[in-house]
Amino acid sequence: MNGKLILAIESSCDETSAAVLFGTRVLSNEVVTQLQHAQYGGVVPEIASRAHQTMITAVVDAALKSARKELKNVQAIAVTQGPGLMGSLLVGISFAKSLSLALDIPLVGVNHMQAHILAHLAEDCDKQPVFPFLNLTVSGGHTQLVVVHSPTHMEVVGETIDDAAGEAFDKAAKVLGLDYPGGPLLDKLAQSGDAMKFSFPIPKVVGLNFSFSGLKTSLLYFLRDSQKVNQNFIEEERANLCASFQHTVVTYLLRQIDRGREATGMKQIAICGGVSANSELRKQLVEYGKKNEVEVFIPPFKYCTDNAAMIGLAAHFLLLENQISDLKMVPLSRYPI
Ligand code: KG4
Ligand code: ZN
Repeated sequence: MNGKLILAIESSCDETSAAVLFGTRVLSNEVVTQLQHAQYGGVVPEIASRAHQTMITAVVDAALKSARKELKNVQAIAVTQGPGLMGSLLVGISFAKSLSLALDIPLVGVNHMQAHILAHLAEDCDKQPVFPFLNLTVSGGHTQLVVVHSPTHMEVVGETIDDAAGEAFDKAAKVLGLDYPGGPLLDKLAQSGDAMKFSFPIPKVVGLNFSFSGLKTSLLYFLRDSQKVNQNFIEEERANLCASFQHTVVTYLLRQIDRGREATGMKQIAICGGVSANSELRKQLVEYGKKNEVEVFIPPFKYCTDNAAMIGLAAHFLLLENQISDLKMVPLSRYPI
């Protein structure tokens, strides 16, 4: 494999991450999650960018150490250009620009959403999809069905018209009394609950787009009405509520995947983004693959949530096409793929 030694940096939201890759081989992938946002119930942009500033040098050092490489060996610097929080992106981009300038090596700005998808091409994934394939990206800020023609040519065929899937999980978790970010906690609690105990309406958006805000409101109204009858309703039914809500979201995601498969004729289906860590989604997708004779691709947990390895992978493919950025590169809070 034709590849350079890449140092990659991710700082788009609340994870400070650095990775070292040789081509598609991930040599190290250090991720520090900022826990200080939990007390505010969501990511506070100002705190996030300050925390990135505090951590970035140590995280880059750790990534180089665990890859047993030195800065002088690095042949290219990759960094998330967007989408993300401006102040957070700026920290990673400024750091990457300085390294590129000091070491006189190419700088590669990466689209975070493309990178989530390209995580599937890491050498240490069980198997890699072959282009073209259909991908469902489900993260805290995005929900997209994407036809992935090549590492640098991707086509969004459906996306959310309101909240993202991760946001729906986090908001549901919040009203159910769980800490932020609630998605993983809701998933954990759901495992001891009955998914059939309560039912919530599947959103009715036509075509391949998604909507989660009605589902969130229906949970809210259901809790309000139930609490009028029993004040301790949430406490007593928390696990069943988590399991039922999760079941509805996952059933909905699978229905949209199915529609996407029919519309595009794709025979390989991949998922990525933070919500692809969800145990019910992973389970239902495997069952879906067996039932419909399509090959499914589920990333290892380490490549589901934000990480710099995926940024390095995307940069590897950009470098192969000679798509290099320069020092004028600016962060993009919105960055369509
Ligand atoms: O991709 P990601 O790390 O960051 C963004 O780019 O947004 O996704 C974070 C989202 C959060 O909303 C988090 O609650 C959700 O992914 N998440 C989960 C699980 N693990 C992470 N949602 C449901 N179940 C999980 N196991
Ligand atoms: Zn992400």
